[in-house]
Amino acid sequence: MEGPCNILITGATDGIGLLLAKSYAARGHRVLATGRRALDDHRTYFGVERIVYLQADQQEPVRAAKLIAETAQKLGWENIDVAILNAAIGWAGSPDQEPARSVQNQIAINLTAPVCIAAEIAPWLFAQKGKLVLIGSTAVKGQGSFATYAATKAGLDGLARSLRAEWRGRAAVQIIHPGPTQTDMHKKAGMSVGLARRLFMRPKRVVAAIERAVRSRSKRVVVTRSYAFFASKSKEGRL
Ligand SMILES: NC(=O)c1ccc[n+]([C@@H]2O[C@H](COP(=O)([O-])OP(=O)(O)OC[C@H]3O[C@@H](n4cnc5c(N)ncnc54)[C@H](OP(=O)(O)O)[C@@H]3O)[C@@H](O)[C@H]2O)c1
Repeated sequence: MEGPCNILITGATDGIGLLLAKSYAARGHRVLATGRRALDDHRTYFGVERIVYLQADQQEPVRAAKLIAETAQKLGWENIDVAILNAAIGWAGSPDQEPARSVQNQIAINLTAPVCIAAEIAPWLFAQKGKLVLIGSTAVKGQGSFATYAATKAGLDGLARSLRAEWRGRAAVQIIHPGPTQTDMHKKAGMSVGLARRLFMRPKRVVAAIERAVRSRSKRVVVTRSYAFFASKSKEGRL
């Protein structure tokens, strides 16, 4: 397959999603970027042509999923080559202190929304054997201070395995689990990481690693420091 791809990226207003959207658009692909916030002028915000922005708050998963499908329709997209479901939030602290609202929001945004979005966009993915990419976390194996967040990522891992079986022959399904990365996610989750942040991976490297993983046929990729390092050295391939 030649030419630009149609790429959906959720949570594309900050961190990893923002860099991914800019990177794919800069290489000529058409990007539908979604996020929680309203943007007055998305062209200035992204600074790259070929990005269409849709405000789709995943705190309302069913509505967000329908908005995404409607927008793909309005854009005249006949297929989606790659859908990267990346939007997520965390809450840091002791599980017995976590407000119920925070538990509900993380489950809605990190897990229910990807389930709903995957279902809504399935026809576009099936149209030309596209690829669904779920962004998990190494917290999938369980992580202190991030119990609910880790549970949502474990849920995504299960979703990936189930959809892979359901969609066999129609679309590929991949899950990518990055390790700690220098974005503002921890701060937004209420955690001060201090000097430990220096040990986190650089977002550009993680984005290169995600792009490399998307090009690969791997079903499940854990983004370690060495994977990210070697990924940043190679950019061959259509995507
Ligand atoms: N950073 C890490 O250490 C790390 C490690 C492992 C995995 N990950 C995963 O990597 C992915 C990206 O994380 P990041 O570090 O780039 O985080 P980030 O900088 O906080 O970006 C998260 C993105 O999701 C969006 N988002 C939040 N709530 C939303 C909602 N209700 N509806 C729609 N979009 C919403 C954010 O929008 P706003 O800008 O409006 O908040 C932002 O665009 C996530 O899945 C995360 O779990 C991150």
